Amino acid sequence: MKVVSSILVLVGLAAAAKEVPPPGPDGKYTLTAPGITAKFIPYAACITNLIVPDRNGTLRDVILGYDNASFYAVDPNHSDYGAVPGRYVNRIKDHTYVLNGTRYFTEANDGNGTLHSGTNGWSHRVWNVSEVTDHSITFTIRDEGNSSLGFPGTVIGSVTHSVGNGSWSTILAAHAVDHLTPLMLTTHPYWNLDAFSNPDTDLVLNHTLSLPFSTRMIGIDENTQSTGALPSIPKGSINDFYSKPKQIGASSTDAAWVGNCGTAGGCAGYNNQWLVERNESQAGLPLATLSSGWSGIKWDLYSDQPGIVVYSCHWMSGGNQLKQDQGGTASNGFVRKDGCVAVEPQDYIDGINHPEWNRTKYQISGPNTPPFSSHIQYQFSTI
Ligand SMILES: *[C@@H]1O[C@H](CO)[C@@H](O)[C@H](O)[C@H]1NC(C)=O
Ligand SMILES: *[C@@H]1O[C@H](CO)[C@@H](O)[C@H](O)[C@H]1NC(C)=O
Ligand SMILES: *[C@@H]1O[C@H](CO)[C@@H](O)[C@H](O)[C@H]1NC(C)=O
Ligand SMILES: *[C@@H]1O[C@H](CO)[C@@H](O)[C@H](O)[C@H]1NC(C)=O
Ligand SMILES: *[C@@H]1O[C@H](CO)[C@@H](O)[C@H](O)[C@H]1NC(C)=O
Ligand SMILES: *[C@@H]1O[C@H](CO)[C@@H](O)[C@H](O)[C@H]1NC(C)=O
Ligand SMILES: *[C@@H]1O[C@H](CO)[C@@H](O)[C@H](O)[C@H]1NC(C)=O
Ligand SMILES: *[C@@H]1O[C@H](CO)[C@@H](O)[C@H](O)[C@H]1NC(C)=O
Ligand SMILES: *[C@@H]1O[C@H](CO)[C@@H](O)[C@H](O)[C@H]1NC(C)=O
Ligand SMILES: *[C@@H]1O[C@H](CO)[C@@H](O)[C@H](O)[C@H]1NC(C)=O
Ligand SMILES: *[C@@H]1O[C@H](CO)[C@@H](O)[C@H](O)[C@H]1NC(C)=O
Repeated sequence: MKVVSSILVLVGLAAAAKEVPPPGPDGKYTLTAPGITAKFIPYAACITNLIVPDRNGTLRDVILGYDNASFYAVDPNHSDYGAVPGRYVNRIKDHTYVLNGTRYFTEANDGNGTLHSGTNGWSHRVWNVSEVTDHSITFTIRDEGNSSLGFPGTVIGSVTHSVGNGSWSTILAAHAVDHLTPLMLTTHPYWNLDAFSNPDTDLVLNHTLSLPFSTRMIGIDENTQSTGALPSIPKGSINDFYSKPKQIGASSTDAAWVGNCGTAGGCAGYNNQWLVERNESQAGLPLATLSSGWSGIKWDLYSDQPGIVVYSCHWMSGGNQLKQDQGGTASNGFVRKDGCVAVEPQDYIDGINHPEWNRTKYQISGPNTPPFSSHIQYQFSTI
């Protein structure tokens, strides 16, 4: 009897500690499918490499990252490369919010505001690898209450990245175990669809962006914090990517370019959020498309999220090193200002401080609310 139960206990333990394969010799997990290779690391549940063919069939690594998987955790410039920030992405004005009558104070790590939940957010943690298949990897996180300043209650999160024929998909899921808490997630890849190898430019100002369902944006103050306004975007103005596809740098000589993403620091270009407003028949269409005329690489972005953040890398100051498979004669081997564009489908920034937007039911979770869920898919092709 005793022997049998010991065996059962051992079998049970073996089943509980699910075997996952170790990463490759480069410290990364590699997934492949026709027309795509992608690499991931447990730090920040992050994508580090994404390799697709250009229009000539030459393979290009079109995402920012580092060759050295161990460097992410110590990178003093922590740019959230390819990361899953959490538990509440993006900005919280004045590092404070009110939840069910209690005022909470979060970490001021972005001027007087909070960005990506502070310096112990999910993009600063080593996640667990819970499952690996030929085409997918699942990372999980248990985020204890208060392990980031001002975020009460424990949250369990998971991220499943997968590759299909020329596509990269992510499913984000999370639920609050024992307390109400802000909960909002996204992925944070930075793109250079020329892999910095275009001999004419290492910047993304000639990449073409389309945001067909985005005629309004989140209004910002001088510090890039949400004001509560949801201004309409005049046709032909700097932020109009809906009336027709436009190069990211098309308005770079407009007076409005400098300060467009925050006047206090002179942020030039884009670090803004557009609303995605679609009716039912448009719900399955891409909410954004990005392409480069040089490489011919294009992606269409599909997501269920009602907003999209676009950041054209004004704050990249030339210190972050490229990977060995990136760069060309126009590049000095580092990421320069305007050298990349981050694109993040997500709910309205700082919606917890704007109940008038009606987004709190999606941004605040508790043990008795529906869990957070989101899907994001990039489909690659060439033009
Ligand atoms: C990778 O980064 C880690 C952490 O900074 C460092 O200790 C190690 O020497 C680096 N490895 C290489 C090959 O550069
Ligand atoms: C900074 O945030 C604090 C705490 O929310 C607030 O009391 C203060 O007014 C803010 N300071 C500025 C300069 O906005
Ligand atoms: C809100 O706070 C009240 C009073 O502290 C508490 O009884 C209630 O359970 C809280 N609501 C939720 C959904 O946590
Ligand atoms: C990973 O799993 C271990 C064992 O269950 C747990 O102690 C640890 O907190 C987990 N790490 C994360 C980031 O959730
Ligand atoms: C979290 O911090 C709050 C104060 O900010 C405190 O009231 C609460 O007891 C803490 N919860 C845990 C689980 O430590
Ligand atoms: C992959 O997609 C391409 C383009 O849509 C198609 O031509 C090809 O047949 C697909 N390959 C597989 C293996 O499904
Ligand atoms: C590249 O962008 C610059 C600045 O926006 C523009 O002047 C130039 O015409 C563009 N070049 C091409 C080939 O589209
Ligand atoms: C959705 O909007 C488009 C463009 O305005 C329109 O043509 C279409 O009829 C609308 N569909 C539904 C179901 O409302
Ligand atoms: C693709 O091939 C053409 C013809 O050889 C060449 O001119 C062009 O530079 C190539 N494009 C890229 C992105 O390598
Ligand atoms: C961080 O960025 C600064 C400024 O751009 C640069 O000087 C430095 O080399 C970078 N540090 C690392 C470790 O990449
Ligand atoms: C929020 O809901 C109210 C009441 O239905 C509506 O008047 C308002 O326009 C909504 N706000 C937004 C930003 O959709």
